[in-house]
Amino acid sequence: MARIFVTRALPGPALSRLEDAHETTVWQHQLPPSYEQLRAHAAQADALLTLLTDRVDAQLLAAAPRLRVIANYAVGYDNIDVGAASARGIAVGNTPDALTDATADLTFALLMASARRITEAAAFAREGRWQTWEPAGFLGADVHGATLGIIGLGRIGQAVARRAAGFGMEVLTTETRDQHNLEHLLRRSDFISIHLPLTAGTRGLIGTQALSLMKPTAILVNTARGAIVDRDALARALHTGQLAGAALDVTDPEPLPPDDPLWSAPNLLVVPHIGSATWSARERMTEMAVDNILAGLAGTPLPYQVPA
Ligand code: GLV
Ligand code: GLV
Repeated sequence: MARIFVTRALPGPALSRLEDAHETTVWQHQLPPSYEQLRAHAAQADALLTLLTDRVDAQLLAAAPRLRVIANYAVGYDNIDVGAASARGIAVGNTPDALTDATADLTFALLMASARRITEAAAFAREGRWQTWEPAGFLGADVHGATLGIIGLGRIGQAVARRAAGFGMEVLTTETRDQHNLEHLLRRSDFISIHLPLTAGTRGLIGTQALSLMKPTAILVNTARGAIVDRDALARALHTGQLAGAALDVTDPEPLPPDDPLWSAPNLLVVPHIGSATWSARERMTEMAVDNILAGLAGTPLPYQVPA
């Protein structure tokens, strides 16, 4: 029997497959274990099932001599030092595909909510301020026929592009940090949506310079990772009207502190990192993470292994 530490209770029945086969400890709190608590559990564990809120760095790995597999409950794995893990022969897995469509759906929900001022209008109605049908009330931007710039054309970026086709949008894409293509996209797009992993090369990619290229009527959507956008630069661009709006599922840090200048920015919509939050996506992610752990403990290749 191997020892498994799972850093949170997860949706769906699949965790029982770990509990049936191994000595499995599930962190039963609403908030994640602290770094020290995680390190103490990792020190005893053969396998870790982690969340994107768990930092697994080289120091923690060095204190985990038995560890053979880490299954991250996310498609992104910027919280894990994959290089340090592979140097120690520890396999790292993630949960791709399961959340592609859910995240693309949320991207469109944010895009449309921002374009059509849904949260503002809903609050107005609920607060009893709705007095009559107003010819110039809550005017927003057209989504149909607009130009959508997709930065990052992986699984989720492509799923967003498919949705955009249904809205008759013109889609511009940039695959990598092709500077020329990126600048063209930033200048031309009415909506800009980020679908990149967070890496050293994408951190801060959307900063003062990139924001200055966007149309003043443009809306930025981020369902990838908060740190890809420079939040101070974004707050300035919104405050000065250089950018019409932003809709964020991810921030840096998470949660965004209550005194962050972004909160006072106009036309900002923030939701608490819910891109994959559908029943089916989250249950499927549990199955995939469990499959990764069981394969890693059996010494076979992980079905969903991240590139080393
Ligand atoms: C969520 O952000 C994920 O990476 O799955
Ligand atoms: C709006 O409700 C319309 O009928 O145009």
